[in-house]
Amino acid sequence: MPALRRRLLFRLATSDTYERRVRALPPIATAARRRALRYVAGETLDDALAVARTLHARGLRAAIDFFGEQVRDAAGFAYETAGPGYLAYIPGGGLFVSAVADLIAGRKPDPKYGKIAKQRSLHNNYLTLPVLFAMISQHFPFTYGHENSWLVLLGFMALGALVRHVFNLRHQDRDIRRTVGLVVAGGVVLIVALAPQPQAAGLTAADFPAVQQVFQARCVTCHSSHPTNPGFTVAPKGVMFDTQAEIVANASRAYEQVVVTKAMPLGNVTGITDAERDLIGRWVRSGAPAP
Ligand code: HEC
Repeated sequence: MPALRRRLLFRLATSDTYERRVRALPPIATAARRRALRYVAGETLDDALAVARTLHARGLRAAIDFFGEQVRDAAGFAYETAGPGYLAYIPGGGLFVSAVADLIAGRKPDPKYGKIAKQRSLHNNYLTLPVLFAMISQHFPFTYGHENSWLVLLGFMALGALVRHVFNLRHQDRDIRRTVGLVVAGGVVLIVALAPQPQAAGLTAADFPAVQQVFQARCVTCHSSHPTNPGFTVAPKGVMFDTQAEIVANASRAYEQVVVTKAMPLGNVTGITDAERDLIGRWVRSGAPAP
């Protein structure tokens, strides 16, 4: 249903025919315009400039971009880009006098802007993968949960930029072997550095009953083949702690959720104590021993 609705909305939003029909009926056109103004600055360059000026007056920066989605032919292009003020608005500072404005006016653009643009483009190119990594890293607690998480971040950023460099070289048909070698070497270094160190936390199989007690009291109301927590009919994410085998098999996942991120128990509805978190932590760091 949502997919259908989204497809329909997209169709309507991009249909010239529909737009013409709506505009032809003044009361509907006014209502539609009022709705749309919650999301867009307006329909003309003057509308956009007025919003930019208001934002500037409030001490905010604003940039006006022109993507040209509505330009479908040469006449439309000439019309859309003819305004002498286009892209050249700077009162209050903060906006670029674009090289495009110079080109349109028949002046030679200042090469400075080209250099700035190239620099941004280069930075963006190398930052794509690191940014992607930062976005998904919240699913990998071993990265941000590390005591030197900033070093881990720098490591992954460097690796991401290096992987990007491999793509860049390949697109130029250049030799990628050395860079691939560096990526692999860097990856191995990161894996070794991040691998959980089995510290001598000193717990043995004899401590398992106490650990199982914690899972029993704090987790199985939800994580069980028969959850008793109202609202849960199946174990969330299929993770269960009913049996010894299940507890041992899910030990490291439990460690991430209970010790590193403290996301579990959910909202701590079962009231786990710090001492119990610590017990699970030491048990997993001891290699999750069980009888
Ligand atoms: C109130 C119900 C509830 C309790 C109690 C609870 N959990 Fe969860 N748990 C959830 C829900 C809901 C999810 C799914 C979260 C999601 O989709 O991101 C989950 C997910 C998990 C996951 C999988 C996380 C992943 O994304 O891989 C683990 C592991 C886990 N819980 C461990 C525990 C442990 C250990 C305890 C007890 C200390 C516990 N949970 C207590 C509701 C609960």
